[in-house]
Amino acid sequence: MKKKLIAGNWKMNGSLTSNEALLQALVAGVADKECLVAVCVPAPYLAQAQGLASGSGIDVGSQDVSQHESGAYTGELSATMLKDFGVRYAIVGHSERRQYHAESDALVALKAQRALASGITPIVCVGETLAEREAGQTEDVVKRQLAAVIHANGHCISEIVVAYEPVWAIGTGKTASPEEAQQVHAVLRGQLKAATQHADRVHILYGGSMNAANAKQLLSQDDIDGGLVGGASLKAPEFLSIIAAAC
Ligand code: 13P
Repeated sequence: MKKKLIAGNWKMNGSLTSNEALLQALVAGVADKECLVAVCVPAPYLAQAQGLASGSGIDVGSQDVSQHESGAYTGELSATMLKDFGVRYAIVGHSERRQYHAESDALVALKAQRALASGITPIVCVGETLAEREAGQTEDVVKRQLAAVIHANGHCISEIVVAYEPVWAIGTGKTASPEEAQQVHAVLRGQLKAATQHADRVHILYGGSMNAANAKQLLSQDDIDGGLVGGASLKAPEFLSIIAAAC
């Protein structure tokens, strides 16, 4: 069985001082834990996180990556630059970027491709809005989002991580029930199986108000291979409880 992956998405939070305390507590808390742990930090703190997490088994991730290789793209972060800082994962297509930066399925697919080409594992986020769920469109939406990434990445698709993050569950305290989440994860697994014979290797994470109280049940579902954790990843004891539930 593959190890679960618990990734924290700090979003636009943190400071040199608070990061240091958080990372030191996480490094102390994850020693001898049998699962994969990552923190996706704001870009200015990649070097700090890399330094503090070095040798601890905690991987560092970014929250985005440019689809471009290099050049006149002010404000963008290239995959090779991220690689310079030891970045192992890059979140792509988070719903906050799809919503506030108008990122399309096609753009997300290119970002995933660029990450893979530099040896960075893209964490590809998919998920429906509340209106889409209520209209019975959940499966169609997540399949459309993942299909673009499969189409652009061909046989490399077994190298990605997928995160199912229902938009209505992000930062709201509302979680998909374990059964609701599993249903969508099974759809995504089926879609990956049609694209690669290594679909079982792919981690499919759940994200959306995961916390110490609900993690164990969510993580016990067949196709839930870990979590992408927002708010609860900013508090060391809470994040460590989620990690403990996964290990
Ligand atoms: P919350 O855990 O704060 O709901 O955020 C989830 C998320 O968006 C992780 O990427």
